[in-house]
Amino acid sequence: MAKQEDLFKTIVAHAKEYGFVFQSSEIYDGLSAVYDYGQNGVELKNNIKRYWWEAMTMLHDNIVGIDSAIFMHPTIWKASGHVDAFNDPLIDNKDSKKRYRADVLIEEELAKFDDKADKEVAKARKRFGESFDEKLFRETNPKVAELSKKKEELHKRFSDAMNANDLNELRQIILDYEIVDPISGTRNWTDVRQFNLMFKTEMGSTADGAMDVYLRPETAQGIFVNYLNVQKTGRMRIPFGIAQIGKAFRNEIVARQFIFRMREFEQMEMQFFVRPGEELKWFQKWKETRMKWHKTLGLGDEKYRFHDHDKLAHYANAATDIEFQMPFGFKEVEGIHSRTNFDLGQHEKFSGKKIQYFDPELNESYVPYVIETSIGVDRMFLSVFCSCYEEQMLEGGEKRVVLHFPAPLAPVKCAVLPLVKKDGLPEKAKEIQQKLRFDFTCQIDEKDSIGKRYRRQDAIGTPYCITVDHQSLEDNTVTLRHRDSMEQQRVNIDDLESILAEKVSINSLLRKLVE
Ligand code: GAP
Repeated sequence: MAKQEDLFKTIVAHAKEYGFVFQSSEIYDGLSAVYDYGQNGVELKNNIKRYWWEAMTMLHDNIVGIDSAIFMHPTIWKASGHVDAFNDPLIDNKDSKKRYRADVLIEEELAKFDDKADKEVAKARKRFGESFDEKLFRETNPKVAELSKKKEELHKRFSDAMNANDLNELRQIILDYEIVDPISGTRNWTDVRQFNLMFKTEMGSTADGAMDVYLRPETAQGIFVNYLNVQKTGRMRIPFGIAQIGKAFRNEIVARQFIFRMREFEQMEMQFFVRPGEELKWFQKWKETRMKWHKTLGLGDEKYRFHDHDKLAHYANAATDIEFQMPFGFKEVEGIHSRTNFDLGQHEKFSGKKIQYFDPELNESYVPYVIETSIGVDRMFLSVFCSCYEEQMLEGGEKRVVLHFPAPLAPVKCAVLPLVKKDGLPEKAKEIQQKLRFDFTCQIDEKDSIGKRYRRQDAIGTPYCITVDHQSLEDNTVTLRHRDSMEQQRVNIDDLESILAEKVSINSLLRKLVE
């Protein structure tokens, strides 16, 4: 575990050193859980968004996009339930004066049972060697069985308390399991209270009678309140979807793990409107479609899993998370929810406007049901970044740090490097870069030895380096160096565009999605 924590710290440091992610307001000592994306980070982030946006809107004839405002009428948040129920249970430690999410403290306690069981398994694997059968061991070992039973007991108590919104019981669990504050090490806890996560501000001057407005905690409501506009102006027929990418804001109590949990973040959400009764079929379909989108990046199929919710929000009739293996464990990156007709129904009630669809095939009107896919851009960024980071020992004892980004997501697609800074090579390099820059983010780098320049490009994940040497002036060829294998091939300059296009365009990913 300590090793993974160290690795994560190294990755965070790398993200800063190479212009991917900076702490917001750093020169003023930073603002907690708010981050800025640097020159390479913004390119990676934009490529992730493009991959999502084009997969949604270009590969589906029945999905269109919108861009709704962050500020919305405050009644929207009353209708959606966010004013009354978008709360986290929080608890303070009286000694450290630190605030925690009570549910997170208990979830961490639950994870300890798994850690202990994993340790037993690791010990046994060492003892039995090749012949070790992990499945059989987990089923029959008394210590592991005892840990699993205890975990189940705690899990049941915890989910009952969460379902019943029983704050006293949450506190009692923390006391019974002797959960201590990681900072003070004491069990001197306050009561558990509810804390609303929405940021509130005022619109208009006070003289006019300012109105309280909220920074949206999800982009989805901007889609729901535009359902009628899009359906009518786009003459959309059910089933159809509306996609949106935009900022969301949550006053998170426990904000940590870098960009995993932020107070200002970005979501890519798609609401898919379907006939009542057909929602679970579409839920399955979207589970498969979204998992394929993730796996097509080639980061490793074993790094993903579904986590079906046992605690469903009152308006949902199915929900699952796509989890990704981060250095700090499997964590949610995307949520897929069958939200029934709750949101549109609530907006119909609160706005007094009829929000219905006349289905010509059924010859009846209804409030459509909704399947939502909701993914955090920043979490997606983090999962790509962490899984692509590698420190390699090369022959001769040299170390290189390389980011194995899928080429279509890489911030810089190619770098043109003149072997020496004389003899007309920089001019030739410039000529190549000027041609390529219309289609690819393409850098030119003349400083330092060629080896150092390769390392710099490896460290930001550039998939191709194009080296211009004396031969280039004679026969119009260059060497094309592949980031992952470090192999070099001699290619004609006129072929560069087509070679790169095939490997680095978002299209290359999109085509795989429809195979
Ligand atoms: N409209 C549904 C919705 O917002 P959610 O599970 O609360 O559902 C969806 O959020 C996704 O947004 C999550 O899977 C996660 O990727 C991202 N997300 C949520 N809170 C976040 C935060 N504080 N920081 C970064 N990403 C966050």
